[in-house]
Amino acid sequence: MSSQSPRVYLAKPHMSGYEQEYIESAFATNWIAPLGPNVDEFEKEVSQYTGIQGALALSSGSAAIHLGLKLLGVGRGDRVFCSSLTFIATANPIIYEGGEPVFIDSEPESWNMSPQALEKAFHTAQKEGKLPKAGIIVDLYGQSADMQPLLEIFDAYNVPVLEDAAEAFGATYQGQPCGKLAKLSVLSFNGNKIITTSGGGMLLSDDLQAMEKARFWATQARDKARHYEHSEIGYNYRLSNVLAGIGRGQLKVLEDRVKAKRRIFDTYYQALKHIDGITFMPEAPFGRCNRWLTTLTLDPQIIKVTPNQIIDKLEEDNIEARPVWKPLHRQPVFKNCQYYTHEEGNSISDYLFENGICLPSGTNMTQEDQDRVIQIIRNTI
Ligand SMILES: Cc1ncc(COP(=O)(O)O)c(C=O)c1O
Repeated sequence: MSSQSPRVYLAKPHMSGYEQEYIESAFATNWIAPLGPNVDEFEKEVSQYTGIQGALALSSGSAAIHLGLKLLGVGRGDRVFCSSLTFIATANPIIYEGGEPVFIDSEPESWNMSPQALEKAFHTAQKEGKLPKAGIIVDLYGQSADMQPLLEIFDAYNVPVLEDAAEAFGATYQGQPCGKLAKLSVLSFNGNKIITTSGGGMLLSDDLQAMEKARFWATQARDKARHYEHSEIGYNYRLSNVLAGIGRGQLKVLEDRVKAKRRIFDTYYQALKHIDGITFMPEAPFGRCNRWLTTLTLDPQIIKVTPNQIIDKLEEDNIEARPVWKPLHRQPVFKNCQYYTHEEGNSISDYLFENGICLPSGTNMTQEDQDRVIQIIRNTI
């Protein structure tokens, strides 16, 4: 039975074998303390990969979002239009800065921010005389949002955007790496992401002056002086040189990891697509999805088993699966925030949460692991 079977995780770290070399160089040169050559090189390498000029390695993606919002000037009472279907880390920094999140629904084509819902939010905000200070567009489950129409709307109101590409490193939009079109963008190297530094993140922008400011805030906002002088409040947000070494080893295999994730998706897709009522997260025509997690929905009109029943069945066999993110407009902590749906009376993010499942998608999964998942789903439906 089940408890004997090896645990299959949703997504666990997958080392390339190159990491030790960089970690050892940090030890050999005693660059153990924060910063050092691995941090500098990791920033340069990510900058080269993305084609974005400025890269700032930080202790987490959350820290990167926080500094990004500060750069966009979000402060007390400011509204921020933010994707609802995402992990809470996307929106927490709005609250850190005393801002007010306004949540925007998804569209069905990519599961990301709906331009229609965004238009509605802007119309209402304009009528209320309270336009947002900034926007956060999320690239969900490794797929870019449809940035062009979204940015056109934000631009029309002169509102700058931060792209939360935490889950989408290696994905593209119109042939360009995710994060390239927004003023600021964010990556996460958390343990479950497509590549990891154990924990870490990055803020990216072509605005090098803004990046200098973020670098200053991230190192306790230390003014230029021999003694410790501070005229602003800062943070201890930099990535350590040891962890940046892991990142450099991981970056070497990012393209392989994207291929592996896409292969995992394809195996699930081929095995389950014939089941009436199962719909996989579509790959929108405007980009390459990194398929960070394979996600699908079960049509409750056709399939009488719920996502939670499938997740329970998988758990009985020691396999981890999860519901799709619970939209932020439904989180108790955000119960007083505004929310704009894709269509009147049709909330796409609610449907995706209520009917969606994320399947184990680690690039170090074996074929047998995947067969176990597929077999259980087939037997349960
Ligand atoms: C969409 C999204 N945004 C932000 C984050 C935060 O990144 P971190 O865990 O590195 O702080 C994550 C993941 O953890 C995420 O999935």
